[in-house]
Amino acid sequence: MSSQLTRRDWLRASGFLTAGLGLSRFTPAEAARPSAPFVSSFTNEFAFADDPFANMPKLRARLFANENPLGISKNAKEALIKATEIGNRYAWMEFAELKKLIATDDGVKAEQIMMSPGSSDVLMAAADYFAKGGGTILTSVMTYDDLLQRAEKFGAKIKAIPMTKDFKFDLPAIKAAITPDVKMVYIVNPNNPTGTIVPTAELEAFCREVAPKVPVFIDEAYIDFFEPADRPKFGKLVSEGLNVILARTFSKIHGFAGLRLGYAIAQPNMLKTLRDYTNGDFAVSITTLMAGIASYQDKEWQNHCRAENAKARAYTTKALTDLGYEVIPSSTNFILFPIRMKTAAFSNQMFGQGIGIQTRDFGGQPFCRVSVGTMDEMAIFVEGFKKVVG
Ligand SMILES: Cc1ncc(COP(=O)(O)O)c(C=O)c1O
Repeated sequence: MSSQLTRRDWLRASGFLTAGLGLSRFTPAEAARPSAPFVSSFTNEFAFADDPFANMPKLRARLFANENPLGISKNAKEALIKATEIGNRYAWMEFAELKKLIATDDGVKAEQIMMSPGSSDVLMAAADYFAKGGGTILTSVMTYDDLLQRAEKFGAKIKAIPMTKDFKFDLPAIKAAITPDVKMVYIVNPNNPTGTIVPTAELEAFCREVAPKVPVFIDEAYIDFFEPADRPKFGKLVSEGLNVILARTFSKIHGFAGLRLGYAIAQPNMLKTLRDYTNGDFAVSITTLMAGIASYQDKEWQNHCRAENAKARAYTTKALTDLGYEVIPSSTNFILFPIRMKTAAFSNQMFGQGIGIQTRDFGGQPFCRVSVGTMDEMAIFVEGFKKVVG
């Protein structure tokens, strides 16, 4: 092993955890609240200012939020501008157009789809619903914790199972941990922050076995980073009637993080229930929706973004590996790797150079999560990283 970290350190990082300590959206003000649950160590000095962004140096590389650095496609931009002409209208039948496209690709019915302003709304609605009356949400450690934090706030217990030694959801262990109080299983695939995926056949078998007893929520925020031929097609599980909820977003490969568009694929009854907790479709603006229709069909742009992401990710992975750092192989637009200094010092020195990243301690091991930006941004990151680590 080339780095100072031994395999045991890595195992410790995954195995010692007992709760969801993922990297949620970049919310420094939230993180600064001393009582914020789960948020263990987002501790760069800017986060603790009253106005967290006031003293932040101008960012030269914005690598903390897993956004698409290339922006939205030209087609989406044109559709967005054109849609301003119908900005006086409520979005109505336009939903049908997008749902039809998604339904065809996923082999589901339009009534098995609910659009939303980003997938966060779907996550929050599910958290509220499943937390009602208590019970347990079963998941893994080192995963995205927005849904988990919210569910805990509203009365659910979170049971988080250690990952496999290669930082993947341990599906057999999760299955073995199902008890009568478990109301929902939350899987993130590909996972944030580890960037790992579970084998498609294994997850499919897991859903077939578990979903007849307990709803399985699969957060597929990063699914578009799969090569199209490898992309899991879990819509078929929904079309077969299984209680599986898929959450997807346009925030990543489509570059819609600020425009806000996402959707859920689930049984119509489940969507009906979730609609009690979110405005769902009708919270989406017509401009975003029309841009979404254009972007969804713009495969060329998606392929371009996927290829550019893979290139910049490979460059960064190699640079870190050459420096002797152990990088968790990523299938997404971000990279997680253990660092050899305290998160606060590391974060401050990176932000001090105008390089935005995220850090967390997992089981006492500090990690950096860097989003994949443009090649230029990644070069800035590598150069800044070298300065910090010497
Ligand atoms: C795993 C995961 N799920 C859901 C989301 C929410 O994304 P959005 O609300 O922008 O669709 C994110 C955002 O980064 C994420 O990483």
